Amino acid sequence: MKVLILPDAAAATERAAGLIAARLRARPETVLGLATGGTMEAVYARLIRDHRETGLSFAGVTSFNLDEYVGLAPDHPCSYWHYMRRQLFDHVDIDQARAHLPRGDAPDPKAEAARYEAAIETAGDIGLQLLGLGLNGHIGFNEPISSLSSVTRIKTLTQSTRNANARFFDRPEDVPRLAITMGIGTITRASDVLLLAHGAAKARVVAAMIEGPLCASCPASALQMHRKVTVVIDREAAADLRLRDYYELVHPDGREAEI
Ligand code: F6R
Repeated sequence: MKVLILPDAAAATERAAGLIAARLRARPETVLGLATGGTMEAVYARLIRDHRETGLSFAGVTSFNLDEYVGLAPDHPCSYWHYMRRQLFDHVDIDQARAHLPRGDAPDPKAEAARYEAAIETAGDIGLQLLGLGLNGHIGFNEPISSLSSVTRIKTLTQSTRNANARFFDRPEDVPRLAITMGIGTITRASDVLLLAHGAAKARVVAAMIEGPLCASCPASALQMHRKVTVVIDREAAADLRLRDYYELVHPDGREAEI
């Protein structure tokens, strides 16, 4: 696991967006795994700026988002499809026919989850998976004690996740109880994983993910088994890391190791 510690959230965002842009320039036909949530908004804003100012292109990209709320149609203002259009898709040259999210309003959500998993496999799996980190250690909506080899399926959201996401809804009780999410097995089949987290509130869970035991109680700890994970965090989110000095020695200011 590569741990890059940047001075603040803005620098961490810049670093993560730079890694995504570099990947798209090197391999324009990347299958991108995308995330939603507050952390990603600034990343997408940075990528849009890159698209406008430097011509960064998404034209060759196929994308699969991690998750969608069960019951929300794509045109619902709180759906993740709506989020993705607002935050990224409508502002870059991605072919929206190749931008995939699970259908939250599918009549049979279980069948939809199976269809989505099969579509990811057919696309050859994810090339670069972008992840945020839930306060309870979730990645996607894989809540604690999710199977570490799970595939796309329906998950019941914890109250802590519903509380954390209530800010995106008019009323807390409007946050759906169920979501379709890629599984941890789906996510860890990606060739490369890039996780971004910042802020003091994430310090405890960042430490659990990187240095804690590999266990389903902290689903993100499954990334310890992956060969190519880059974790980009700011100093606040790095505060509880026991080996922080070591990570900063290997990657001063979040730079690549000088080997
Ligand atoms: C979003 C997702 C979630 C978020 C996580 C962090 O598609 O799958 O795992 O990445 O909940 O959310 P924020 O960035 O709002 O703290």
